[in-house]
Amino acid sequence: MNWIYIFALHLTLLHIGASSTLRVIKPNVIALEVNGNPMEKKTSVELSCGDHFENTEIHWRKNQHNIPAKGNSILVTIEAMLGGNFTCHSASGDVLNHTLVLVSPLDFEKAILLRNDDKEFVTCVARNYSGPFHCSWKWDPIRNGVVVFFRAFRNSSVINCSLDADNAGLTCEDLQCPFSEEVTRINLTLLVRNQYRLEEHQRTFFIHDIIKPGKVSITKAENNEFEWEVPKTWNRPCTFFPLRYEVKVVSHRKDCDETSHDHGGSHSDSIYVSETQYKVSGKKSYTFCVRAQDAFTNKVWSDWSQHKVIKHKSKE
Ligand SMILES: *[C@@H]1O[C@H](CO)[C@@H](O)[C@H](O)[C@H]1NC(C)=O
Ligand SMILES: *[C@@H]1O[C@H](CO)[C@@H](O)[C@H](O)[C@H]1NC(C)=O
Ligand SMILES: *[C@@H]1O[C@H](CO)[C@@H](O)[C@H](O)[C@H]1NC(C)=O
Ligand SMILES: *[C@@H]1O[C@H](CO)[C@@H](O)[C@H](O)[C@H]1NC(C)=O
Ligand SMILES: *[C@@H]1O[C@H](CO)[C@@H](O)[C@H](O)[C@H]1NC(C)=O
Ligand SMILES: *[C@@H]1O[C@H](CO)[C@@H](O)[C@H](O)[C@H]1NC(C)=O
Repeated sequence: MNWIYIFALHLTLLHIGASSTLRVIKPNVIALEVNGNPMEKKTSVELSCGDHFENTEIHWRKNQHNIPAKGNSILVTIEAMLGGNFTCHSASGDVLNHTLVLVSPLDFEKAILLRNDDKEFVTCVARNYSGPFHCSWKWDPIRNGVVVFFRAFRNSSVINCSLDADNAGLTCEDLQCPFSEEVTRINLTLLVRNQYRLEEHQRTFFIHDIIKPGKVSITKAENNEFEWEVPKTWNRPCTFFPLRYEVKVVSHRKDCDETSHDHGGSHSDSIYVSETQYKVSGKKSYTFCVRAQDAFTNKVWSDWSQHKVIKHKSKE
């Protein structure tokens, strides 16, 4: 359903025991999926300029260099990761059509994007249940990565996504306030290339697994009493989604995130509350910390909000 495999395309495998599949990525872009080490593979692929160019004089270029093949349909040999942009030309030299041939090594370590702290290449986050979700990635700086294709869907309905201006993220359509439990996951596919090497990245997730509330804003900090507000991006139309808060008091010399290098584990010095206020007992200087989490899923914490209280000793 996801991909159209072109069975019609006649594919000759030269390498004995090799299994390669040709896959249409989008119009004018095809990928040769290669098992095993692509550097040892040589595959012959048939390209065609277009049915209505049959019986006319056609010549071809690969990456703007003439190649000897002539005619509407040609066989080209793809070696290692040396795909290319094949253009077909009329007798006068005009470009009639083109096919970008990419090589997708299925058993190779991925190398075009960098892994995040959770060892994933693509990070997806939603601030609430009613807005867009956002997926982002980091390009390996030594490569020249390009987005070839992306797509998100849930239970076969396509979700509208757009590529961010910096080429390092996707913003996917506003979601409805869910009136019932989320039963199907979102599938996200991102295809990137570096030169003619293609890599596929897949994420499958529930929105409730990627909900990371925005930072809470501390609205009052007086006499060791703190009050804060629900993050501005939290679901106001869906008021039935409660948050819970983690509160902790650390040394005034520290920032809140210096003491927690965990991912959601609990700390002995933390207190969990559902109300949006807290009173600190103690007279020394300190840093007050608070962050929020979806109370139903207990998954991802917001970033910390902090307020430092410095007490000066009065001389008596
Ligand atoms: C151009 O080539 C693509 C294959 O890359 C093919 O699908 C398409 O039909 C061709 N266009 C024309 C006008 O023949
Ligand atoms: C391939 O060649 C066509 C025709 O010249 C051009 O429009 C297209 O941008 C090229 N694609 C790449 C990836 O170089
Ligand atoms: C998924 O899609 C199928 C077919 O369109 C539909 O029958 C089914 O109810 C959907 N499931 C959910 C959970 O939306
Ligand atoms: C997808 O988003 C674009 C840009 O926001 C919009 O023009 C288009 O109509 C949307 N398509 C669908 C199916 O919602
Ligand atoms: C969604 O993604 C999962 C995990 O990558 C995969 O197993 C499943 O087949 C995908 N669903 C569809 C409809 O592509
Ligand atoms: C939901 O979060 C998005 C940011 O991801 C934000 O733009 C939107 O305003 C939020 N929705 C509400 C109702 O606050």
